[in-house]
Order: sequence, then structure tokens, then C-alpha cells
Amino acid sequence: MEPDKFIENIYLAYAAKRPNSRKLYEKACGFLPGGDTRSVTFYRPFPTFMKYGAGFRIFDVDGLEYLDFQNNYNSLIHGHAHPRIVKAVCEQMHLGTVYGSPAESQCLMAEELCRRLPSAEKIRFCNSGTEATMLAIGLARYITRKYKILKMEGGYHGSHDVVQISIKPALAKAGPVDRPHSVPENESIPPDALRNCVVAPFNNIEITKKIITENTDNLAAIIVEPIAGSCGMIPPEPGFLKMLRDTASQFKIPLIFDEVLSFRISRGGCQELYGVAPDLTALGKVIGGGFPVGALAGSSDLMDHFSPAQTRFLVHSGTFNGNPVTMTAGLATLTELTVSEIDRINQLGEKLRTDLRKVLDKLEITAQVTGAGSLAQIHFTDREVKDWRSAATARVDLRTIFHLLLMQKGIYAATRAFFNISTPMCEDEVDKLAAAARSALIEMKPYIEKTAPDLISGRWK
Ligand SMILES: Cc1ncc(COP(=O)(O)O)c(C=O)c1O
Repeated sequence: MEPDKFIENIYLAYAAKRPNSRKLYEKACGFLPGGDTRSVTFYRPFPTFMKYGAGFRIFDVDGLEYLDFQNNYNSLIHGHAHPRIVKAVCEQMHLGTVYGSPAESQCLMAEELCRRLPSAEKIRFCNSGTEATMLAIGLARYITRKYKILKMEGGYHGSHDVVQISIKPALAKAGPVDRPHSVPENESIPPDALRNCVVAPFNNIEITKKIITENTDNLAAIIVEPIAGSCGMIPPEPGFLKMLRDTASQFKIPLIFDEVLSFRISRGGCQELYGVAPDLTALGKVIGGGFPVGALAGSSDLMDHFSPAQTRFLVHSGTFNGNPVTMTAGLATLTELTVSEIDRINQLGEKLRTDLRKVLDKLEITAQVTGAGSLAQIHFTDREVKDWRSAATARVDLRTIFHLLLMQKGIYAATRAFFNISTPMCEDEVDKLAAAARSALIEMKPYIEKTAPDLISGRWK
């Protein structure tokens, strides 16, 4: 079958099973640009509209059921509608949702985060990971009176000007490896933001150290995702985070870990797992228990700059900051997120990565499986994936097809072909994902043979 026809048939089969989603999508497009309010949730021919979730299952408006390995982009670590979180939130709702004053729930949540995160003594809450990284960079600039930041190529820290640079730069525009260009995500990014953003290659100790050293006079902060998430669930190479810590300390540059995604990896996030403490930590996703959340954590001497009890302080307000519903949901989530549960889902993640590699090997399809703990991703490339440039060699059409075929087989994953494990899951769910991946890859193999023969390592076994 011709490649175009193959994709067209997948679209047709997908659409045929989802008449209600199509109707809703067409209606939504009349009121919402592209039918939604998140760029990342769009995919062709139209996204599936979900109706409800329960544990590791999610159900769409056409009555189709899926195992949810996407979990609202890695944010629902206990899956959907966990009974104890629902109960805690309902109890809080009866007491009102937000008061325009401090409430005890915020203090309890901050206390719990400080108990967990090695580098945290005080916390400031906001409503998204984007706000958390804005706050972190704002504080670093306030303290240092410098304005440049250094971020990694491929690093995602939310959608604000300062960091919407070199998230997914086209390789043709990315510049030399040892001096990556600062590439704006789009034309809305002001030239000043570009001038104030130095870009370095994730996982390249030597070059990144050199770039930091050349910019020490102007750097307000170094910001890094300890596990490069949006870039491809890429763990840090041994020594990379330590180099960042040592170099930042040497030149007194605040080091920010963006643990919005990676906090889930251990009780105290990546900083505990890898034994490297940042100065500031941005948090979000799982700590909100399914509600909008962001937080900034750090030592008292840094965080106290936010204290209005001081004569000079850094103003930080937000109508819904630290609202009791989010705090209650977050606290219930962390209470359930014990060390043994984290270990268990991390082991399931390891099993998933191993099983996916076995499936690929058996089918003689070359692809890379990255990830750490409860996170995994497939990249259709023959290059080892350890930074943005290697991840960018992967075939986008293959992961698009893979994603749609998985949906047809009852697996809900992100279009980027990443997966995360939630605590309601057991080995059975991982086995089902591996079986669905096998079946999808078998369907795709003739297309791969035609369009990407380099990714076929041999004959059928
Ligand atoms: C590492 C990282 N930082 C920041 C963000 C932004 O968080 P939010 O979507 O809550 O604004 C994300 C979201 O995916 C993320 O993965």
C-alpha cells in the first residue's frame, strides 16, 4: 500500500469509531480556535473527546475505553478520581473553595513538600508550572541583579517569553553544537528575550561548562529539567547535574531545577535521586492532585525575599495561589504517594521500557526507548537519544501513526509516544501496553520498510 494511503486509512478507521468526538470537535472549532485551549492536545484527524476517568481507565464520548498512560501529561500519578482525593476535595468544597486569606491547608502542603525535597525550606504556591519557572527566574534576577538565563537546548519550562526559546529548534537553525543559537519558538518572542537567553546542550558536560564559564558576568540563573521531559524523557548522564551544581556554585549563579515533571521520580524528586541539590526548585503537575498548581521551593534565605513582612520584598500575588481545593488535593495525593508506591511504579516503568525494547528487537525495528522511573518514551531513530539534537532525528510520522494505532487498540498515550505509570496500575496494564505496541508495530512495519528502511534491522523472525 502507498504510504499516503496507509495514513489515510488509519485516519478513516480512527474517525469511523468516533462519530461523537468528530461532532464535538466540529462544534468546538466554532468557539475555540482549533477546538480546544491547549496546543499540545491537538492531533489529526481530530482529537478524541474524553468523558470520564476511573483509576487507570479513561472513557471517551463514543463509549470507547482506554488504559490511560498519558494521565493529563504526567500529572495524575494516582490516575483518575482516586477515592481518597475525591473525598478530601469534596469535604473542602463544602467549606468553600478559596478565602482571600491564608488557610491551614497551604501550610500543611508546604510543610510536606519541605519534608520531601532536600533543598526546600520554604515554598511559594502558584497555579501552573509555567508560573513556577517565571517565579524562579524572577527571584534569581531580583537577587543577582543580572538578567540573562542559561537554559538547555530542548528544555521546556512552560509558555512564557523568557524560556520559549530553543525548545524544539529546527536542526537547520540550531547552530553549531558547541555554541547553540537561541532560537525563538515563534515570532512573538521579543529580541530582548533572545539576547537574555543563552542556550547549552543538555548532557554535554564539557561544552555546557564552557558556555556557562563564558557568560558568568551576566547570568542570573541556570535552569534545567533534571530529566529532559518534552525533549524526550531523557535522563541526565552521570556527572552532568553535578557539573551544573559545581559550576553554578563556583560563580555564585542560582541553579534552578525544573522538577515540574520529574518530582514524581522519588520522594524528593531528582535532587534526591541524583544527590544534587539546586538553589531553587519549580514544581507543578502531580503535586496538585489533578488541580491546577505550581510551586517554587528553596532555602529560607532565598525564599524570604517574597516575605511582605520585610520592608523590601519581591511582590508575588495570584488570586488562586495556594487555594484550599488544590492544597487539599495535593496533600491527599502526597499522603498516598509513599516511597513504596513510588518504587513500585518505577519498577513498572523499568518493566515497560524493557518490554518495549524486547518488542522492537523481536520485530527487528530500530527505535530508542528512553525514560527513568515511571516514565518512558519511544523514538523512531537509530541514533542514541541523549539530547535534543539526537531526539530530533526521530521520525515524527511514525510516532503519529503509532499513537493513533495505540488509540485504536485501547491505549491512551501522548502523541509524542511517551507513557507514564500511575499507582492504580499493575504488571497487567504494562503487559497490555506492550501487546498493543507489538500489534501496532506489526501493522506499521510495511510502512516503515517502505519509508524508513534504515530502521529495519533484519528480516521477520
Ligand atoms: C518541565 C516542565 N516545566 C514546566 C511546565 C509547564 O507547566 P504547566 O503546563 O503547568 O504550565 C511543564 C509542563 O509540561 C514541564 O513539563
